[in-house]
Amino acid sequence: MSAVVYPGSFDPVTKGHIDVIVRLSAIFDRVVVLVADSPRKNYLFSHDERVALIQQAIKQVKKRSGKIEVVSSKMLTVNFAIQKKIDVIARSVRTVSDWEYEYAMADANKKLAPKIETLFIMADPTFGFISSSLVREVAAFEGDTTPFVPGNVSRALKNKNSVKTRGKK
Ligand code: COA
Repeated sequence: MSAVVYPGSFDPVTKGHIDVIVRLSAIFDRVVVLVADSPRKNYLFSHDERVALIQQAIKQVKKRSGKIEVVSSKMLTVNFAIQKKIDVIARSVRTVSDWEYEYAMADANKKLAPKIETLFIMADPTFGFISSSLVREVAAFEGDTTPFVPGNVSRALKNKNSVKTRGKK
């Protein structure tokens, strides 16, 4: 059975990420969406919130495929892959500016676990300029995030904002 790990911070998951997950599920028998943390990032949503948002967003997709799992990890992605006996890590590339960061990560992962391959999947041009930080910025200024994220994520962003606003009063 072919399997792939698709790791990310997903803070929050966007329509671009969902598109990648669906496309991976057409290639692999099993797609493990891994919510991981990067020490370089400060997160708006907690780890558990990010997991729950993806789980809700893929419910529709899951009905069709049943091959997608959303899991949580606090370990190196390659160690998670080794533990689960998965040989492929997928990462999505949107523009050339993504390349340097992705190449460095793929190279480090190769040195840590030579048997694990990184597979790059091009983001659909429709979603090519969406990023989680862009979405967070639109939400922070109370803009409409529905073009960029699934409905449940848009609602969660609004809730975060109203909690923050209430805190300032
Ligand atoms: N659609 C929308 N956005 C996309 C995208 C797509 N198809 N592809 C990439 N992105 C964006 C994300 O929105 C995010 O944007 P932002 O930085 O502006 O918020 C950015 O690309 C990358 O985020 P993401 O894909 O969520 O991953 P990340 O770089 O934050 O996560 C981990 C990196 C979590 C995978 C990595 O830190 C990890 O594996 N951590 C565990 C520890 C580890 O193994 N580290 C690696 C050591 S070499």
